[in-house]
Amino acid sequence: MKIADRVLKKLKIKRPRPVEGETAKLFPPDVKKELLSEGLDISHVILGVKSDMNSDGEFCENYVFFDSVGLYIAQFSEKVKPKKCKKRLAAQAQLLRLETIPVSEIDSLKTERYLSTGHLIYTFNGEDYSISLFSLGLIGRLEELVKTFNAFKQGGDYQAILEQREEKTCPGCGKPLKQGKTLCRKCGSKTSIAKRLLTFFRPHYLKMIFIIFSMLLSTAISLLTPQVGTRKLFNEVLNTDNLSDYETLLASLVSVVLTVIAIKLITQAFSLFYQYILAGMLPWVIYDIKVRVFSAMQRLSVGFFTHKQTGSLMERVTRDSNNIYWFLIDGFPYLIVSAVTVIGVLIIMFITSARLTLAVLAFAVITAIVYPVFSRVFRSLHHRVWVRNAALSSKVSDNINGHRIIKAFSKENDELNDFSLYSRKLMDSEINYSNAETTVFPLLSMLVFWLAAMVLGYGGILVVRGRLGLGDLLAFVVYMQMLESPIEFISWVFNWWARCADSAQRIFEIIDSKPDIVDKENPVILTQIRGDIDINELSFEYEPARPIIKKLNLSVKAGQMLGIVGKTGAGKTTISNLIARLYDVKEGSIKIDGIDVKELSLNQLRTNIGIVSQEIYLFIGTIADNIRYANPEASYEDIISAAKAAHAHDFIMKLPDGYETKVGSGGQDLSGGERQRISIARTIIQNPKILILDEATAAMDTETEQKIQNSISQLKTGRTTVAIAHRLSTLRDADVLAVIDNGTLVEYGTYRELMNKKGEYYKLYKLQSEALKFIGIETDITNEDKVSREGN
Ligand SMILES: Nc1ncnc2c1ncn2[C@@H]1O[C@H](COP(=O)(O)OP(=O)(O)OP(=O)(O)O)[C@@H](O)[C@H]1O
Ligand SMILES: [Mg+2]
Repeated sequence: MKIADRVLKKLKIKRPRPVEGETAKLFPPDVKKELLSEGLDISHVILGVKSDMNSDGEFCENYVFFDSVGLYIAQFSEKVKPKKCKKRLAAQAQLLRLETIPVSEIDSLKTERYLSTGHLIYTFNGEDYSISLFSLGLIGRLEELVKTFNAFKQGGDYQAILEQREEKTCPGCGKPLKQGKTLCRKCGSKTSIAKRLLTFFRPHYLKMIFIIFSMLLSTAISLLTPQVGTRKLFNEVLNTDNLSDYETLLASLVSVVLTVIAIKLITQAFSLFYQYILAGMLPWVIYDIKVRVFSAMQRLSVGFFTHKQTGSLMERVTRDSNNIYWFLIDGFPYLIVSAVTVIGVLIIMFITSARLTLAVLAFAVITAIVYPVFSRVFRSLHHRVWVRNAALSSKVSDNINGHRIIKAFSKENDELNDFSLYSRKLMDSEINYSNAETTVFPLLSMLVFWLAAMVLGYGGILVVRGRLGLGDLLAFVVYMQMLESPIEFISWVFNWWARCADSAQRIFEIIDSKPDIVDKENPVILTQIRGDIDINELSFEYEPARPIIKKLNLSVKAGQMLGIVGKTGAGKTTISNLIARLYDVKEGSIKIDGIDVKELSLNQLRTNIGIVSQEIYLFIGTIADNIRYANPEASYEDIISAAKAAHAHDFIMKLPDGYETKVGSGGQDLSGGERQRISIARTIIQNPKILILDEATAAMDTETEQKIQNSISQLKTGRTTVAIAHRLSTLRDADVLAVIDNGTLVEYGTYRELMNKKGEYYKLYKLQSEALKFIGIETDITNEDKVSREGN
């Protein structure tokens, strides 16, 4: 970040929007050049969007942007032409059409959604005119353009919309930011990461002081070895004058040897001491980091998890924290030791012989130039190995997860071929890496060898001329060798640190992510929840401009049962998610006992709502653990009676270990219906005031379903039930029924009312009755149909 930017940031002053800001972000250089060559002044663009189709629906690069004068539509084709001096081909945009609509001739903009495309339209004097079509995925960005343009046209605060948008982009590079981030990964500074990482050491600062002190001391003492073991030995002890006095010689030799041993023992003791403390402290630091990441993940809302891959989240808790661990335990201490060694050795060398040291430094400069070149080569070779390793792991995991389908399609051989292809590629890249390693490192050692030889030659001359003692020269060579590994380490430790900082940043991303669903300040805590649910004018969308629920009104009284039916994708599960506040409503409200769910304490809300969800998840553990999950205090009797109520007891008892059978990943494989029954038992034991059954019996046979229906009827008493089902017979006992279609309520009333109305519900009912008759289950619904007709 520039100094000026830092100052502005410190003073909390926002930099004024650069005039070229939007232009620079929106247009790549070649596009900009084409537009400028058309004589278009693009320096005052307020906002623009790159869409992917023209107004005829043909795919092309299409830019729609506006300034205070006009709205521009620039259509480009991509022409591939070779870049000069580069082997790679670069895309060069070519302007096909440029259309300008004066802002004065536009009343407003709007978008329309079709099945897979959207349409950007402008209105003038009550007439609609087409601007361009676009893939539906881009609708969010186009909606932003529409909102900003309309605000600009109506003299509204369009700057506020732009600023809001800017907050979602990285101030460093202008790229869109992910949820909860303030800087993109590239712009996140490594020093701030290091500072942040250091905060984890705060509780252990005394130990840290000891460790660093011991490191410095042991390194400094170890630098004395050549002074005694070489310099003193050759200059003073093995001096030709002494050689005749055998006793003095022996005494001096013993004293030298003992001093060298003492130095080694002292440095070894210090080194053992700090390594011991470090090894005891670092697991605590890593434990803290892991717990912080995991607890941040627990705080985050459902939306966060749907946008992240499970693998990438798991990597952060496990692999990324291990990366940090290894850097801190191996890299960081050795970095300090190396740095102290290099500085100390250079000082000693300089004192011993300034001329020789300058000669060494000249070589050091050459090494400093050569090392980064090799290190870049190594990094790219290592990255290739990493990428291919990741691809191979994904292949194996895909194969394990999809093993049933592979067998069903008899694709074992194809899979094996694919695997060996991936494996082969990995092997090739590993061979390349090892080849580079085995060639480069000996070459580098040769460089050091040449350096030593030169120093010996030059030093020899100095010794002969009497400018340097023999012991000094030999000590100098030893010091030079002592420099080799620290310099080598320092030259590549920065790569290692870059990888560690990358891992740390990924971890901080999670720790810093803000959950979008949180308790209000002083949330309402009711003494008891009755269970009235009122949904008023509810609108919701998961993604911008793709409404899932539209102005929905529904209500159910405490103790009643509401049945929700509707086609697949109508929004039924979404309604149940909104009642439990797994997502926040965008417009309208959901009230429980007259209080908006956003006001209610989240903990109270969620402990009072029991959901048997459409996607059943059993945790790793025993069946008993899974049932008592909602209420860890539950006794074994409670578990068994809940399982009995959910008609799960009989099948559980038939399992080899009964209630102690292990389920979840790697455990006993259960059928869909059995898993549903365990999940129902789990909800029964929770004893919630509001029960949501989302296709709770969809995976069961009719007989089991009948039995469960009876249990649910008993379960209903004293609580509000929202039951979602495709099989209408499941909702026989509902007090009120709601038919949802495409996010709107199309019918609402009691079973009798809806049957008499002969509307949507009746139609669904008849269709299902026919379908069931076809597969031989006719009595149930047909009988009811009869009853309904009699009721008429
Ligand atoms: N997390 C999500 N992100 C984006 N879109 C979603 C998400 N969850 C659901 N949707 C979309 O919302 C719409 C309604 O989904 P929902 O699960 O509420 O339907 P449903 O009525 O329960 O269907 P079904 O009967 O198949 O269970 C669907 O078009 C679905 O693709
Ligand atoms: Mg659903």
